[in-house]
Amino acid sequence: MDQRFSVDSVLIVGASGSIGQLVVAEAMRVGLDTTALVRDPAQSSLFPEGTRIAVGDFTRPDTLGEVSDGVNGIVFTHGTYGGAGEAEQINYGAVRNVLDALKHPARIALMTTIGVTKPTPGHDWKRRGERLVRASGLPYTIVRPGWFDYNKPDEHHVGMLQGDRRWASDPSDGVISRQQIAEVLIAALNADTADHKTFELVAEQGEAQSDLTPLFAALQPDSETTLDGPLDRDNLPLAVESPRVLSDLDAIRGRFQLSGPA
Ligand SMILES: NC(=O)c1ccc[n+]([C@@H]2O[C@H](COP(=O)([O-])OP(=O)(O)OC[C@H]3O[C@@H](n4cnc5c(N)ncnc54)[C@H](OP(=O)(O)O)[C@@H]3O)[C@@H](O)[C@H]2O)c1
Repeated sequence: MDQRFSVDSVLIVGASGSIGQLVVAEAMRVGLDTTALVRDPAQSSLFPEGTRIAVGDFTRPDTLGEVSDGVNGIVFTHGTYGGAGEAEQINYGAVRNVLDALKHPARIALMTTIGVTKPTPGHDWKRRGERLVRASGLPYTIVRPGWFDYNKPDEHHVGMLQGDRRWASDPSDGVISRQQIAEVLIAALNADTADHKTFELVAEQGEAQSDLTPLFAALQPDSETTLDGPLDRDNLPLAVESPRVLSDLDAIRGRFQLSGPA
């Protein structure tokens, strides 16, 4: 199967969130057919005219049957700061349940967080969500943003880091505007050089680059032998994972048979 399909129709998961709303607007701005997944149909007022609305709750697989019909791209921007139970249900459950409901290949852009490999319940469940995406065989990009909107007015020069070595858990780890996160997630969907890449996204002093392609191209691709980013610490081994996490990985592994960077 040709894996170099271009994305022209995208589903945004977490569309009502502070990043999701900007991702919907950016997807519409660049001319993608855009569907916002929301639990409450009244949230349609959050989006530009012309945005399609799919009503479903990503924590409830029974509500997701048709939400991805007709799309060939999915951007995940959901998330919670809650404890372990909520983190599993939301940070991880959204990825597992939406991919489970997907009936045909789509390109994925997943937002997690800088510091995701520093062990906390919230981070660990985001990291397991990353692993589901890597195991799926779908083309993808995983974006780990720094602290939202902590950038100074002159900090728009995009930096992409790998290895997730910044673990202070404060804005000294890196900062980035919400708008730039949205732009990077949407740009990644149709950039061949972003496929099978995982990176931390931060902004430094300077102007934004007009073309992100060379930045994506300079990144190391994810390894085909581990389920982590290329330089990530090996501190969440599969050997200590629960049977249900391993079973979710088994269920998604190779399901779409599109593995390997474009
Ligand atoms: N703040 C930072 O500096 C920073 C930096 C890096 C990463 N992050 C990560 O970004 C995430 C937060 O992003 P954000 O600010 O865009 O979040 P947000 O505004 O709180 O949006 C969260 C989204 O998830 C959905 N959601 C939450 N709980 C749900 C549930 N139980 N069932 C169904 N949907 C649910 C919300 O839908 P509803 O509208 O239906 O509730 C909403 O669309 C966090 O996970 C955090 O780790 C934050």
